[in-house]
This record gives sequence, structure tokens and C-alpha cells, in this order.
Amino acid sequence: MPAFSASAPGKIILFGEHAVVYGQPGIAVPVTQVQAKAIVQADIDAPPGRIRIQAPEIGFDSNLDELSPLHPFRAAIDLLFKHFGIESSPAFRLQIKSTIPIAAGLGSGAAVTVAILRGISAFLGHPLADETVSSLAFEIEKLYHGTPSGIDNTVVTYKRPVYFIRNKEIETLKIHTPFQLIIADTGIAYPTSVTVGDVRKLWEETPDQITPIFSAIGSLAKAAKYAIEHGKINQLGPLMNENHDLLRSLKVSSIELEKLVKAALDAGASGAKLSGGGRGGNMIALVDAHSIAHVENALVTAGAVNTIQTTIDNPV
Ligand code: MEV
Repeated sequence: MPAFSASAPGKIILFGEHAVVYGQPGIAVPVTQVQAKAIVQADIDAPPGRIRIQAPEIGFDSNLDELSPLHPFRAAIDLLFKHFGIESSPAFRLQIKSTIPIAAGLGSGAAVTVAILRGISAFLGHPLADETVSSLAFEIEKLYHGTPSGIDNTVVTYKRPVYFIRNKEIETLKIHTPFQLIIADTGIAYPTSVTVGDVRKLWEETPDQITPIFSAIGSLAKAAKYAIEHGKINQLGPLMNENHDLLRSLKVSSIELEKLVKAALDAGASGAKLSGGGRGGNMIALVDAHSIAHVENALVTAGAVNTIQTTIDNPV
């Protein structure tokens, strides 16, 4: 029996996190250096319907029916079966592997869900269209992130740079001139659901102050789209810096993120900002061939537990 395997990349948000939840545009790109993978294989020794899920890296090994319906692995599988109208499936083993750090702003949850949906649907002989994968993954995101925008499941499913506006048709972004980023991890896992919830509280308490911040972030994302599509890379750094300042005023930065952002800028990055939910997780720094090594060293010296060099380009 062949195994069916599916993978999904990580992601980073270049511009617009948090404001994107409120209808402003956001820009996100896949990060293929990290991946989630689902491997599905028929279990001919098990009774029909028995589904065993293993994620060896996190010491996870359980049958589906032993999991709470709210467990993310189970929720994804239940939703998929509901989508297909399946009551019971042939017995199978699902192995989940991921190199995407958890709660770090790299889209780990969305990527694992997308890999599971793709792997099992292929095993069942009904591979799903991207649009369906993304909308099912969005349902799962809602269970864990409260009020997500949908940007994570979109970029992870389509594996291409996106200019995303909530509830609008997905718009892919053409990269005129590739550019280089360093992604640096604070090593602090901070759930996106918490920062999204805190930003919502802030907005509800002081809408007159917060709504203009969302709009300003949206304007930066629009300007960044223009710069990316016209090869005006030198405009991106200042836009990233402004975006970071606005995220700080939404109270989603942290001492560790500030330290990394400052270290990157001092070492010659032309822009730097937190990326994703914030308070921990990753930041990004815009670099070029001259500054890349210096900035990476500075980030590690300033406490980054991991760095990834990535080139933002059109998918091959
Ligand atoms: C998380 O990657 C991005 C946030 O804007 C939340 C969301 O859009 O769902 C913080």
C-alpha cells in the first residue's frame, strides 16, 4: 500500500498583521525552509474506522476517537469527513512531522491543518482544490485563534506571496525584484489567539485611537504592495520600520522583539519589524548582500535562538 504524503510551508507576514483582522490589507509570503508534513498510510491490521495519529517530534501517539473533539488534529479530520459526508473511513495511520516552530508567528497551526487535509483527502481518493483546503483550514483557525483574518491559511495553502484582504478574492503578489530577509526567533512561544484578543480589547476600549492605527497600517501595506510590484526595494525598509512602530502602539511588541529589531537596524538592515501575532515569536529584517552576514551575527548576539535567511521571490 503506498503512503500519501502532503506538505505545507510556514509563512511570515511582511506587512499588516492585526490590522488585517479588521479589513485592512496584509502581505504574507510562504517560508519553504520550514514545512509541516502529513503521511497517510492504510492500516490493514486495524479494524475499519481506526485512525491512529502519531507526531513523534512532540511525543504524540493516539487513536482519533480518544481525542477531544476540540483537539486540532481531530477537529481537522472530523471537518474533512463532514465535508465528504463520510461516517467511517478505512483504517489508516497519520504521521505528522513539522519543522515549523509552534506559536512563533510562522503559521505552524495552519500548515499542519493544511497538510492533514491534503494528505487524508488524497488517501481517500478525493484530493481537494486549494480553495476548499483554505476554507476548511480557516474553519479550524477560527477554533483556535478566535477571530483570525484568514491570511495564514491562505498563504500556506496557495504557497505564494499574497496581498490579502479579509472576505475578498485572493490576490497573489508579483515580485518584481527578489529581496532578502532574515527571520529571527526570540525563542518565546506566544499564542496568536492571546495577542489578537488583547488587540480586540484595546480597540473596543479606545476605538478612536486604535481605528486610525489600523488604517495607517493598511496604508503601509498598500504602499509596500506598490514597492514590491515595481522593484522599489529601497522603499520597503522604512515602511517596515513604520509598521513596527504602529504594532508597538498596539502593545504587541516585547522587550525581546525590540532588542532584535534594534540589533538588526544597528547592524545595517534597512528595515525590521515583528512578524505575526507578536510579544514573542519571530521578527524580520530586510537585508542585502552586504549586510546579511553582519545582521545575522548581530541578531544571534542579541539573543535570537534561530535565524532563517530567505529570498522573497515568485514561486517556481
Ligand atoms: C497572524 O499570523 C496574523 C494576525 O494578523 C492574525 C490574523 O490575521 O489572523 C495577528
